[in-house]
Amino acid sequence: MAREVYVNGAFVDEASASVSVFDRGFLFADAVYEVTAVIDGGFVDFAAHQTRLQRSLAELAIDYDPIASGLLDIHRELRERNQLHEGLIYLQISRGAADRSFIKPTAIAPSVVLFTQQAALVDAPDAQRGIRVITCPDLRWHRRDIKTTQLLYSSLMKSQAIDAGVDDVWMLEGDTVTEGSSSNAHIITHDGVLVTRPLSTDILHGITRAAVLNYAREQGLRVEERVFTLAQAKAAKEAFITSATAFVMPVVEIDGEPVGDGQVGQGAKRMRELYLAESRQRLQS
Ligand code: PDD
Repeated sequence: MAREVYVNGAFVDEASASVSVFDRGFLFADAVYEVTAVIDGGFVDFAAHQTRLQRSLAELAIDYDPIASGLLDIHRELRERNQLHEGLIYLQISRGAADRSFIKPTAIAPSVVLFTQQAALVDAPDAQRGIRVITCPDLRWHRRDIKTTQLLYSSLMKSQAIDAGVDDVWMLEGDTVTEGSSSNAHIITHDGVLVTRPLSTDILHGITRAAVLNYAREQGLRVEERVFTLAQAKAAKEAFITSATAFVMPVVEIDGEPVGDGQVGQGAKRMRELYLAESRQRLQS
């Protein structure tokens, strides 16, 4: 069954969907996006994704109101049309289409695109075996807190990791870890403290990160939001990443060296279970 996608107010067959060649998302990556997981047919952390979307739009002064536009209903309709039970909904809003110019145009209508992707997120095999990462310098721009579509560097680095026979990269600013190619990075120290980089313009303010930190604190776990180095990550008891589609994913190797005993640890395993259990209780229908 071919997918139906949403483009600027209409649900259309994916083969006949189109956006303008002058779209500024296409020409300048002048666009923001969100990825929302669907499990058991419900949306995970929908409200938080919408709030971050509003912030990204405001930072770029793109004129689109997700609530007035009925974004939740658009998500629902797309989910129903594609019978999506588990996977994700990708949403992209660009400034719109205008003749190519480095001066951003005003008063153009934003382009809004949504599509679904089916995926087995809950029973992902990587969660059982853990992922292996290599490191690379973080050469992205310095407004990583805005969820823009300029993902070329991340895509190239992730591809480099796959070519090197591992799963992903962790990016470094000097000797400190910023984040993964499309995830936030965390470690658990030998005395059981969950350490994660504090929010700033250096990293995306991950929705999964925020949820996991909340649930961990509610369980009485110690959480420290501070910068950590590559050496500290390598010396940690455990490491893991978070993202809307990976949830909590253990990292068992960094630059060819095992993290802890090189196996999926109890801490990350527990955090994944906790995140899934809590998320299931809060699904947006
Ligand atoms: N990426 N950091 C970066 C650079 C990301 O691209 C992502 C998510 C995250 C995690 O954020 P969240 O928990 O809100 O998904 C952190 C999405 C999943 C993607 O690009 O597909």
